[in-house]
Amino acid sequence: MTTPWQLPAGIDCYAVVGYPVAHSKSPRIHQAFARQTGQTLAYLAQEIEPGDFAAAVAEFQRLGGKGLNVTLPFKLEAHDLCAWRSRRAAMAGVVNTLWFEKEGTICGDNTDGIGLVRDLTVNQGMAVVRRRVLLVGAGGAAQGVLPALLAERPARLTITNRTLARAQRLAERVPVAEKGLIEVLPMEALAGRAFDLIINATAASLAGELPPLPDDVLRAGGECYDMMYADEPTVFMQWGTRSGARRSVDGLGMLVEQAAESFFLWRGIRPDSAAVIKELRQS
Ligand code: ATR
Repeated sequence: MTTPWQLPAGIDCYAVVGYPVAHSKSPRIHQAFARQTGQTLAYLAQEIEPGDFAAAVAEFQRLGGKGLNVTLPFKLEAHDLCAWRSRRAAMAGVVNTLWFEKEGTICGDNTDGIGLVRDLTVNQGMAVVRRRVLLVGAGGAAQGVLPALLAERPARLTITNRTLARAQRLAERVPVAEKGLIEVLPMEALAGRAFDLIINATAASLAGELPPLPDDVLRAGGECYDMMYADEPTVFMQWGTRSGARRSVDGLGMLVEQAAESFFLWRGIRPDSAAVIKELRQS
């Protein structure tokens, strides 16, 4: 692998790595956090070819890089690369934040779950506790947020996915003590279930597609949350509004909140995420 890294000298360097990564908002978010908190650091976006992830992390570490955010398709590989994982990252089985200890240990955490829950509960006023929640999707995105959603103690968390076997495999990861909170159902079996909150963790919105949910799956006045974000309302958000949602929102706040938690892990200082969400919405 030819080294992709061009790290500026004399400054703490961080980066987001993925494939693709060109359109990532993470550099902008972390640079805003750094300005806001008076921290001096560089934050880059670096595309890594599939197959080159471990070598790229090793090279970044050798060059003195401080920490990485990991996005698609490397979150599982990042988990496997870590010598130390936080409890929540070990439970999720996917890692989105890496840093290195002095003796070289690669450490990993997952901030996606707390990012989602903070955006839902603090920014959006969408409670999870004691509510009937539907999680749509069973890929890496759903896997990353499942432990944090269960920790909020929903009345029930139903998982559905186009490929049901994947949802069943995801449910098998849930600890025995929390098995009673979850159920797995095919989409066609959801008609009339009247969920309070529906969270779209599929990649469908990226392609302008909609998971084939029955029409009457949302309680009147319920809420919809798309973990994706786009400049225009996603097809899922539009579906939510048509289905009678009180609010139907995108995942921009989750993106900023997971970044804020990563920033806190790296720098020990908590940025004002609301100010950055506002700035991104206005631009
Ligand atoms: P990620 O890590 O982003 O979750 P992934 O592992 O490729 O990516 O998973 C994508 C998720 O989006 C899966 O739940 C996928 O459903 P399948 O498991 O059936 O493939 C879901 N998905 C993608 N496109 C979809 C579509 N058009 N309709 C419904 N679900 C879709």
